[in-house]
Amino acid sequence: MQSEMAEFKKNFEERLAAAKKEKVKIVLKEQYSDAFDVLEDCENANLIPGIIGPPGTGKTLLLRAYAEKTGRDLYWVTGDEGVRPSHLTGAFNPSIVLNKGFGLEAFEPGPLLKSMVNGGVFGLNEGNRLSEYVQNSLLDPFEEGSISVQRLGRIKANEGFFPVLTMNPEEMSGAHRLSEALRDRIRVWIRLGYPRKQTELEIIKMNTPEYTISDATLERIYGLVSATRVSTDIEIPASIRAGISIARLSAEMTKRKKEKSVSHATLSEASTYVLVGALRFRPGIDTEPAVNALVRRSLGS
Ligand SMILES: Nc1ncnc2c1ncn2[C@@H]1O[C@H](COP(=O)(O)OP(=O)(O)OP(=O)(O)O)[C@@H](O)[C@H]1O
Ligand SMILES: [Mg+2]
Repeated sequence: MQSEMAEFKKNFEERLAAAKKEKVKIVLKEQYSDAFDVLEDCENANLIPGIIGPPGTGKTLLLRAYAEKTGRDLYWVTGDEGVRPSHLTGAFNPSIVLNKGFGLEAFEPGPLLKSMVNGGVFGLNEGNRLSEYVQNSLLDPFEEGSISVQRLGRIKANEGFFPVLTMNPEEMSGAHRLSEALRDRIRVWIRLGYPRKQTELEIIKMNTPEYTISDATLERIYGLVSATRVSTDIEIPASIRAGISIARLSAEMTKRKKEKSVSHATLSEASTYVLVGALRFRPGIDTEPAVNALVRRSLGS
């Protein structure tokens, strides 16, 4: 048991170092460089921005890149009804309180408080899914840059504190809405959509560094994912993630089969494996036959 713990501790330290060393890989062009610049403008102008875009368009990555370039940590929360204010701010650890009382040493800070104290970028993902009560607890931090911590007092945020909301467009996030009060605090809205073809191809390449995938194959993958974005039968189309997955899986399958290049059969197979889970069709449409038809139509049979 002792040695198992020691082993875990050693590996954990190693993994911590690995995370610190990892650099953000981003294609910072067009909408991404525009968005990056506006984030900077917002921060300088003291305005809180929201980034709105469909799943997998690079919202999280952009924030990571922004935090990295400005030498700060990114703190992160994803909203849902189960999130309580204490998940954002932090809470006292009862067993430490028992021994040492309600002091700072007994307090385990949450991501919002950490970013306010350390001066970090605070990404609020899907803030619209937070209960209204929790959304209201963000008004003070967002508007005044201050927060009251139970029993410890009210603090003023570090200069480097920069909150950013990210969310999917309303039509994709169901019935959840941002409360009027919180919406009012978000002053600038940055839209991310699906990137232009050349940019998306570059993104796929960046995310498949260990494979050599021909331009012809990349074009076909792009043709397929972009077809899902114009189909009226599809409510949630293929994201950039799906394109990357198809590229990686088809390249790996080709390697396993010892084929020279990605064949039509392999590309169709890989695409089907990815798209059955990546797409959401309109109610009443059967996913599997619809995906098969889509793949056949786009890639040919
Ligand atoms: N500009 C880009 N450069 C490089 N890779 C990108 C870029 N945009 C997106 N990606 C890749 O696409 C994938 C999805 O990006 P990310 O997780 O940032 O999307 P998201 O908008 O936060 O999605 P979600 O709404 O699901 O949280 C990641 O694998 C990321 O590396
Ligand atoms: Mg994200």
